Amino acid sequence: MVDGEVIKSSSVKADPEKSRITVDGVDISIKKNVYLMLNKPKGYVSATEDKEHQTVLELVPEEYQGRGMFPAGRLDRDTTGLMIITDDGVMAHNILAPKKHVQKIYHVELDIPVTQQMADGFKAGVELNDGVCKEAGLEITGEKTATVTLKEGRYHQIKRMFGCYGAKVVELHRLAMGDLYLPDDLEPGTCRELTEAELKLLQQQI
Ligand code: URA
Repeated sequence: MVDGEVIKSSSVKADPEKSRITVDGVDISIKKNVYLMLNKPKGYVSATEDKEHQTVLELVPEEYQGRGMFPAGRLDRDTTGLMIITDDGVMAHNILAPKKHVQKIYHVELDIPVTQQMADGFKAGVELNDGVCKEAGLEITGEKTATVTLKEGRYHQIKRMFGCYGAKVVELHRLAMGDLYLPDDLEPGTCRELTEAELKLLQQQI
């Protein structure tokens, strides 16, 4: 039945977003997933709940609350930039799965100058206490700034990688996930749904 009316012809089209579709009384309407991009500001934790700090979920507009949204991946509390918030568990898992190699690109500022030695070390694989990192890209963009590209996402990974060279990360901002870049006009603390094209950019990588 579509909206309570028995449908006898297979050529009838119904929009599951707008109509209630049932078979023998069971609702089979397909629930569309929601994909939001957030420009994460400092001070928010990437979790759905936290006793001490505000969470990124608090930045999600009311209309999306109550459908089990969660952040696909973590950024530290003091890291800013692109974050995907969704109710699609499969997609979230795939974005993060190291095997899928979805690149995450970050702008980094250090307390000391960035060196070629760091760039060479990142390429070769920095050794951390939880194992050797996959090859990472480090492009020097200024005396103390760089663009870093990672293919995995370990706890505090960039901070720990630079820590191996005695450097402290003073600013960390995620610019992109795969080919999806944070748009310039998305103000810190705000989010919006991905367009179809943006969603494709993410999905084509996983
Ligand atoms: N690496 C870090 O150290 N922190 C982040 O938030 C992301 C990558």
